[in-house]
Amino acid sequence: MNYMGDSNWWKERFKSRKLDMMIHEKSLEEDMSYFPPQGKILDVACGDGRNSIYLARLGYEVFAIDFCEEAISRLTYFANRENLTIRTRILDLSQDSLKTLEDKFDVIIMNHYKPISQRLEDFENLLNINGLLWVNGFRTVPFDNPDVKENDIMQDKDFELLNKNMLVDKKIYESNRREFVRYIWRIQ
Ligand SMILES: C[S@@+](CC[C@H](N)C(=O)[O-])C[C@H]1O[C@@H](n2cnc3c(N)ncnc32)[C@H](O)[C@@H]1O
Repeated sequence: MNYMGDSNWWKERFKSRKLDMMIHEKSLEEDMSYFPPQGKILDVACGDGRNSIYLARLGYEVFAIDFCEEAISRLTYFANRENLTIRTRILDLSQDSLKTLEDKFDVIIMNHYKPISQRLEDFENLLNINGLLWVNGFRTVPFDNPDVKENDIMQDKDFELLNKNMLVDKKIYESNRREFVRYIWRIQ
């Protein structure tokens, strides 16, 4: 499985990209009305930072984590270029507990990364009461991306452990003939 979990694969992928930042996730921008007007946001599996930078530009205090050093150094380059401060940490979400972050957040975002169930409890613990967990990803295997496998697809059952929290909204949508799902939970 390439999409989640293989750091060398991601390293080569980020290395082969031009030093240009991709545009931030459109559905994140569409959901900003759910977010508090200010506060601390954790970007989980941030990649090279397109969403972290979008949120930092809006004035949020952003902490970005990923297991790929190459991705984090690109993020830092893009942030410095705009005089934005974004804290970063290299962490393998399949192995490392997030307890070491020793911080609390108002929002956690996770775009195109499916966490293992053990991390869900970490997210709950890292969020302030009434904090939001925003998750967006593929709902079905996209027809044009062979790197995304059945295991990478987000399903309700992957998030069952969050059931004691409030599901504020779930949206299923299509873009360019690919199917996505976006969840927002409020942590109780
Ligand atoms: C599809 S990219 C999404 C990046 C970013 N969220 C975005 O929307 O541009 C998936 C990201 O997950 C990261 N990743 C995959 N497995 C991981 C793991 N076990 N721990 C931490 N990060 C991981 C990869 O390095 C990559 O940056």
